[in-house]
Amino acid sequence: MSKADVLLGLQWGDEGKGKIVDVLTPSYDIIARFQGGPNAGHTLEFEGIKHVLHTIPSGIFHKDVINLVGNGVVIDPVVFSAELDKLKPFNIDFKTRLLLSKKAHLILPTHKLLDAASEQAKGKNKIGSTLKGIGPTYMDKTGRNGLRVGDIFMANFKEKYDALVEKHIGILSHHKDFEYDLAELEGPWMEGIEVLKNLTAVDSEHYLDQAFRAGKKVLAEGAQGTMLDVDFGTYPFVTSSNTVTAGTCTGLGIAPTKIGNVIGIFKAYCTRVGSGPFPTELDDEVGELIRQEGREFGATTGRPRRCGWIDIPQMKYAIMINGVTELSMMKADVLSCFEKIQVCTHYIIDGEKVDYFPFDVNGIELTPVYEELEGWNTDLTQLTDYNDAPKALKDYVLYLEEKLEVPIKVVSVGPDRTQTLSNH
Ligand code: GDP
Ligand code: IMO
Ligand code: MG
Repeated sequence: MSKADVLLGLQWGDEGKGKIVDVLTPSYDIIARFQGGPNAGHTLEFEGIKHVLHTIPSGIFHKDVINLVGNGVVIDPVVFSAELDKLKPFNIDFKTRLLLSKKAHLILPTHKLLDAASEQAKGKNKIGSTLKGIGPTYMDKTGRNGLRVGDIFMANFKEKYDALVEKHIGILSHHKDFEYDLAELEGPWMEGIEVLKNLTAVDSEHYLDQAFRAGKKVLAEGAQGTMLDVDFGTYPFVTSSNTVTAGTCTGLGIAPTKIGNVIGIFKAYCTRVGSGPFPTELDDEVGELIRQEGREFGATTGRPRRCGWIDIPQMKYAIMINGVTELSMMKADVLSCFEKIQVCTHYIIDGEKVDYFPFDVNGIELTPVYEELEGWNTDLTQLTDYNDAPKALKDYVLYLEEKLEVPIKVVSVGPDRTQTLSNH
């Protein structure tokens, strides 16, 4: 009986999950997304191709591997069919290689409208949502109103759809300044539903159980990051799902005893897109330099990402919550422009030294304290062997391994599949 390994982000998303899932896929039989939806943007680069996936798992470019969209994912049929269209040149047999859980919830056009209306009403307190309808869809899931993939095959689907839309229109009527044209959105949505009907819908919990029994290797692909988790992130500036390892159990129907390795992905620095606390954010020319060198602009919305140094208390918190067994450090090449690198080792709050991530990061005066390390200050992008890496980079990796107490098994030195070094 095999187990599922999990790969997920330890910061505020965009750590490079898509790249590493693609790199690891040859060692697996099934790649499964367990939460989130089209708010995610996972970038893969290989053979001169750059591709961004939103809902489809990042194993899709490898032949003979099954890609499963789990019950914890929310699906927008319009975005999903656009993703399929973009993949057409790759001649992928979607019917056999891409499976959808019947229990995955659907993002309705009115969920997107509700997302936009809610953000507009929040004004300067807005979450900075990607406006893909994520929050309202998960609200309807937990509120027991949602529509699921399995419903699209039922005779009363249109009836159920109309009832939910009517409910949403009632809520939207309270947003006096919010204008919308639902008819314009509904046509493409219904076309998207027809596209979904042509794919294979499964009871994914049973499918995975059979796979484990047959000794198949499964990799669960996270979306967003630990600090965006609805329970453990910087609430309320979070997404609406459980992005942590526990989300794999509920988002795929896997028992906790079936979880194997947990691979935590982090950038050699840190970024965040959207509103909310970010203790080590650099609102200066250093932050701007990281943004330019790292091309830190959102893969889904194009928004500039906020940039800062790595934050050890934040990372330790994420490692603890997820039970991380190994780490992948991404974008080491981006820090090549610095002679010195800062690492936040703890915070000062009310004059006291604090080395854990506090509850109310929003409402308190928090000063990060840094330790300065030597930069490698040399191009890494051509490296093919970790043994040839500059000493300062190896020292940075050793320093982090010691602080985080987890081995860093992968060091990424560029966006391409091949720019991936293994350590240990
Ligand atoms: P994800 O959401 O975690 O999959 O990450 P994104 O795709 O949103 O953002 C990561 C970005 O960094 C993408 O543009 C990747 O192509 C790029 N990237 C990934 N790894 C590296 C790396 O090691 N170096 C550099 N320079 N870019 C990388
Ligand atoms: P990947 O999988 C980075 C952020 C949004 C916003 C907050 C809530 O590519 O790492 P939502 O649309 O979920 O209601 O937005 O979460 N956010 C992400 N930030 N990477 C992501 O996904 C994100 N998905 C959502 O910017 O602050
Ligand atoms: Mg992303």
